[in-house]
Amino acid sequence: MFPGYLNESILKRAQEIGQLDVRLHNIRDYASGKHRVTDEPPYGGGGGMVLKIEPLSAALEHILAQTTAGEADLGTKPEPTPVILLTPQGRPFSQKIAQELSAHERLVLVCGRYEGFDERVRQHLVTDEISIGDYVLTGGELAAMVLVDAVTRLLEGTLGAEGAAESDSHATGLLEGPHYTRPASFRGWDVPEVLRSGHDANIQQWRRQQALRRTWQRRPEMLLTADLDEADKWFLGKLAEEQDEGAD
Ligand code: ADE
Repeated sequence: MFPGYLNESILKRAQEIGQLDVRLHNIRDYASGKHRVTDEPPYGGGGGMVLKIEPLSAALEHILAQTTAGEADLGTKPEPTPVILLTPQGRPFSQKIAQELSAHERLVLVCGRYEGFDERVRQHLVTDEISIGDYVLTGGELAAMVLVDAVTRLLEGTLGAEGAAESDSHATGLLEGPHYTRPASFRGWDVPEVLRSGHDANIQQWRRQQALRRTWQRRPEMLLTADLDEADKWFLGKLAEEQDEGAD
């Protein structure tokens, strides 16, 4: 499931420059017995299959005993590695969590393809649980890839332009405003004059105001926690006035 996405574009480059190293482990390889059983019906009945604790425990023991290249270079005792279970019951993934995770030398992501996990996995083997949204996928793999993607693009040198991730939607606590490229006019749909003016201060101000406007329109609750200066507050006041006038 993973190589296709990992071997394209930014994730591919991140691996080439040594910023990303993804190792895939099949839980079945750690299951014992002829049939290498990884799941069983739940105690008490009720249908569905539950991921057993022993193979996952053996897998994690093996994986956590390995040292990453970065840890070897540092020559220090590795920091505790977050072991993250992908589950719709986890804490909602966000840009803030991506930033938090990007500070770790290594992450272990646990994907299930089952009705559920033995509860003791939650209680004793993992350190975190993350959901990528309020819907249920058939397995944790896509969710794990979402995490890998969002975290990788925050690592140094992975995006072409330096600082490209800093103005992203969500990185600033606001949605990003609109972007345009040539042609200046298409079917009479024109690029805003200010962007073609070459006046940098005006362009920066326009971009900030567009970000505020878009956030106000689409995700107003984000404004409650965004870092806003006096000019931002003044502009938001103007938007509120505009809306009041529209309501009259
Ligand atoms: N596994 C199944 N659904 C999921 C979700 N929404 N987020 C994370 N992992 C999942």
